[in-house]
Amino acid sequence: MEKLTIIPEPVSFEIYGELPVFTLDDTLCFEGSDETEACRNELLTFIREVFYLEPLSPGRGKIRLEISREGQSEGYSLTVDRDRILLRGNDEKGLFYAVQTLKQLLFQSEGRLPQLHIEDYPRFPVRGFMLDCGRYFFTVEAVKQFIEMMALHKLNEFHWHLSDDQGFRCRLENKLLLTEIGSYRSHTNFNTRPHEGYYTKEDMLEIISYAHSRHIRVIPEIDTPGHSKAMLSAYPELACFPQDFSVSSFWGVKHDVICPGKESTYTFIEELFDELAEIFTDGTVHLGGDEVPTVRWSLCPECQKRIKAEGMTDVSELHAYYLNRVASYLEKKGVEVRMWNDMPGGKAVDRSVAWQLWHGGMKPRQVAEELNTGRKFVISCSDYYYLDIPYALTSLEKCYNFEPSFEGLTKEGEKNILGVEACLWTEFVPDMLTADRMTYPRLAAICEGAWSQKEKRDYDRFVAKLPSYRALLGQLGVKAATVKKASPKGVKKLMGKLWWERRKLCWGAHENIISDYRIKKRKE
Ligand code: ACM
Ligand code: ZN
Repeated sequence: MEKLTIIPEPVSFEIYGELPVFTLDDTLCFEGSDETEACRNELLTFIREVFYLEPLSPGRGKIRLEISREGQSEGYSLTVDRDRILLRGNDEKGLFYAVQTLKQLLFQSEGRLPQLHIEDYPRFPVRGFMLDCGRYFFTVEAVKQFIEMMALHKLNEFHWHLSDDQGFRCRLENKLLLTEIGSYRSHTNFNTRPHEGYYTKEDMLEIISYAHSRHIRVIPEIDTPGHSKAMLSAYPELACFPQDFSVSSFWGVKHDVICPGKESTYTFIEELFDELAEIFTDGTVHLGGDEVPTVRWSLCPECQKRIKAEGMTDVSELHAYYLNRVASYLEKKGVEVRMWNDMPGGKAVDRSVAWQLWHGGMKPRQVAEELNTGRKFVISCSDYYYLDIPYALTSLEKCYNFEPSFEGLTKEGEKNILGVEACLWTEFVPDMLTADRMTYPRLAAICEGAWSQKEKRDYDRFVAKLPSYRALLGQLGVKAATVKKASPKGVKKLMGKLWWERRKLCWGAHENIISDYRIKKRKE
């Protein structure tokens, strides 16, 4: 038998001898109280689907599931003895993760396990995966497959990027035009095919419930005040200078953003988040806040009026004002707020808002200072944890070896790192085949960064685990890239880098130039 392995690497894993002491067959007995039933069913489904067994009649083998209600949340132990497996979760989540581990062991051993013992618990409480459905719409089934894979990787937060310049994807009853107009674009870059799609309330509730059954929280993101062309195409009055906007057909950062000067903007945004927060009840919402050009705000009389009235000095303070005001509205409703770390200068964003660190605009010392003074962070540094970046730039090894560390960080500050999140942006990921190839096995690397203890990380050991990992994913219908493809060298690496440069052709600068021109003409 090949050496048994687990991804993410557990805290401790002892195997005693080589001979199997437990064999999976069609006679099996499950033991456990009612509170363990969901996990029992999860395991049964796996055994049925992967081993084609119907292990219902009692036999020699016994799998016992327990919840101890002791120890760190999400932790578990797993013991295999003669004819017996014991899964003991510290809580429901821990038991669920014990099941995820057992699935990997059963698959690799073809159901014949030696005597072994595992103790395990996570390094970070937040272990996320983000899917950008704004650029490309992914079906409910596709989203569920990502969630299924998240569970296998012991990830626990699904960050759902539901709006961007190129598409608004969640249907809201009080703002129907957002999807009636904003979910459709006429073409994508240089092709001529329309692209469209949105999630109904029922779709969203189905996905949330699916995620909950896998102990995954769902955090919706409506990206404002930038990345909002799809919203402006539906409700142009949200812009500083309303015009006949269309949903962007090219990628890139757009000059037309939401106007933070007008009072009516806040009424609209509050109503939008009121409805969103009724659907997404996990208590955290992502406000976006990234990549906001301020060219319109500098010209807009309403924005300038607001800057004066609030005693601000410039448009970057207006950016912070907008984010703080919407965040504080949500916080009063009991909702926690996340944002990307695009730090507007001047007045800072309130400390109560957790930042998602994605780019190097902040120096490590500044991040440390924020952490040391109480701001919480989720780490998604784009050079390492963005899954759309080609392997030529972010190889599997580079991704694996990333360790969030910030010069000047204190022990107290370190506690404010909530965890890490992998982000799958989809400008160049139009379908599931591409998504799978870009995501896996990098998601495996990231889940070791998220779950495994720092001293347990070992790239060579990780690579040795990948053949059985890929085989399991293949069995579950997911085609992961090979280690070779995920580690390009020489000419392949160069070609990959050049290929990535083509994205600049799709940046759609003309969309900004045309809009700038229209506004200039109108002002003349
Ligand atoms: C981002 O990548 N603009 C968050
Ligand atoms: Zn304005």
